[in-house]
Amino acid sequence: MCGIIAYTGARPAGPILLDGLRHLEYRGYDSSGIALALEGPELYVERVTGKIAGLVRRVEGRLPEATAGVGHTRWATHGEPSERNAHPLTDPERRVAIVHNGIVENHEELRASLGDGACFSSDTDTEVLAHLVARELAQGADALEAVRLALGRTSGAFSLVAMPRDEPGRLIAARVGHAGGVVVGHGEGEHLLASDLGALLPHTRRVAFLEPGELADVRPEGVRYVDAGGAELTKAVEEQSVGAVALVKGRHRHFLAKELHEQPDAVLDVLRGRYLSDPPRVELAGIPFDEEGARALRRVVLVGMGTSLLACSVGRHYIERFARLPAEVDNASEFRYRRPVLDPQTLVISVSQSGETADTLAAMEEARAAGCPQITVCNTPGAQATRVADGTVYLRAGPEISVASTKCLTTSIAALHAIALHLGRLTGQLEPELEAQQVRAALHLPAAVGEALELEAQVAGIAERYARYQNFLFLGRGLSYPMAMEGALKLKELSYIHAEGYPAGEMKHGPIALVDESVPTVAIALRDEVFEKMRSNIEQLRARRGPVIAIVSAGDRSLDGHVEECIELPAVDPLLSPVVSVVPMQLLAYHIALERGADVDQPRNLAKTVTVE
Ligand code: M6R
Repeated sequence: MCGIIAYTGARPAGPILLDGLRHLEYRGYDSSGIALALEGPELYVERVTGKIAGLVRRVEGRLPEATAGVGHTRWATHGEPSERNAHPLTDPERRVAIVHNGIVENHEELRASLGDGACFSSDTDTEVLAHLVARELAQGADALEAVRLALGRTSGAFSLVAMPRDEPGRLIAARVGHAGGVVVGHGEGEHLLASDLGALLPHTRRVAFLEPGELADVRPEGVRYVDAGGAELTKAVEEQSVGAVALVKGRHRHFLAKELHEQPDAVLDVLRGRYLSDPPRVELAGIPFDEEGARALRRVVLVGMGTSLLACSVGRHYIERFARLPAEVDNASEFRYRRPVLDPQTLVISVSQSGETADTLAAMEEARAAGCPQITVCNTPGAQATRVADGTVYLRAGPEISVASTKCLTTSIAALHAIALHLGRLTGQLEPELEAQQVRAALHLPAAVGEALELEAQVAGIAERYARYQNFLFLGRGLSYPMAMEGALKLKELSYIHAEGYPAGEMKHGPIALVDESVPTVAIALRDEVFEKMRSNIEQLRARRGPVIAIVSAGDRSLDGHVEECIELPAVDPLLSPVVSVVPMQLLAYHIALERGADVDQPRNLAKTVTVE
């Protein structure tokens, strides 16, 4: 969760950058730095490990006069937190300084392609970007063109700001894929760039948001926008209203839409510093036992409520697959009254966005009384659940305001994936090749979630056609079963349509009696080991004239013509598919709710945090 701030104008840049970094510090604080563009031309770069206060102390009284610069606060993904890995990073000749947020997925390949002559001073993926841009500059490319050409060689989802040494006052910003946004602040004779709208607000309320594939060429006197092909763009500069709520919502109509669209960043943030690429492995803090403790465990029980409970159902697959421990999922409100059999060899994992849900806390108390070791997966620093559990894995998803949970589901699944991999290594049950493969696959998730969000226009069209139906079924098998349940929960909660989620195999044992032309089914039919079974279930629905909306794997056209609607997911590792397959169902519920005029952020009868039983 890195923070980016940049300024170009007539005022001294240094203090503006330091203030901006203080505002962004919540995004990460293992190291930070600033670069200023000096007449000369020359780049002044200062970087420190630790919090922003350390950077302020380092530069105090020594900041050179400069009216343009970039700043960064870091949460390490590639390379340990250290001064050499802190941003801004430059090429060896210091032609350009770069600050970056996100992951360059093919950085190793790019490093190799730069040849033996390329001398790297950090372990980061970011430095590769500085080398690529500098090479283009050295060959005479204009700064905007240099960044554009360099980005053409990269894959991943990230944003950056590049500051070329030879043109003090000029900044180039870019957004690649969906993770890591960039907001451009338009002022009078000055412009700012930031990863967060909030960091710009002390300076201007007139902003433009870069979309994936867009670049901004920023100078004090104006901003030029181009797309990835270099074609000129006209972008609307929006005036942000002063109301606090409107400010937080940014350009979205609802918190739900904002949070749904924050998922690529949120997933990136939950992986950050935990999924390491070189060598690929998971390093997780918050696990309250070592190898010996893990090997003493006999079973795992996962508890939660609502959407968090459904994340637990996915987590159970991960625990069984990676740690080879028997795992059960329990609805927290049932667990405590059943007199469950618990002992100190039972690990209890609770999942709660708020960390204050009464039923989940009560289940945790039950486990504590029985001496079970406990881990909680939680989004709220200092919440009650984090005080009861022996260890906490934070979601780092930022506030989730909408009552319907979205980003806390996808990040909870990613957190449980990390816990299971970590546990598997401790128990000695996880094959190192599988860990490496899963880590690499997880690092692709932010980009895949971003691509899934691009399905929004298609899904909105489906929502328009299906918004007046009164009953829906959602079916899935294996890892897709809990997501079918989640699809049904989101639709019920947001649009007040009756919806049922089932394991598809159960359909013939009762629910199929409901099916006729008035009951559509959302069927998650991914190319996994149960695909053929799902295909048969779809045929059975079709034989009873039930309309089918199928969610299928990337490139799978085999259901075209057999179903009413086909939503094709981006490519994703089968074990991580729930994080991506749920996105179109979230979008469907949101758009159907809009069609029906429902209150999407505060559905009737519900509360965000349920603190009563
Ligand atoms: O804060 P928690 O994660 O413990 O909340 C659990 C449920 O109340 C919550 O997930 C609820 O089901 C959501 N509104 C679903 O969107």
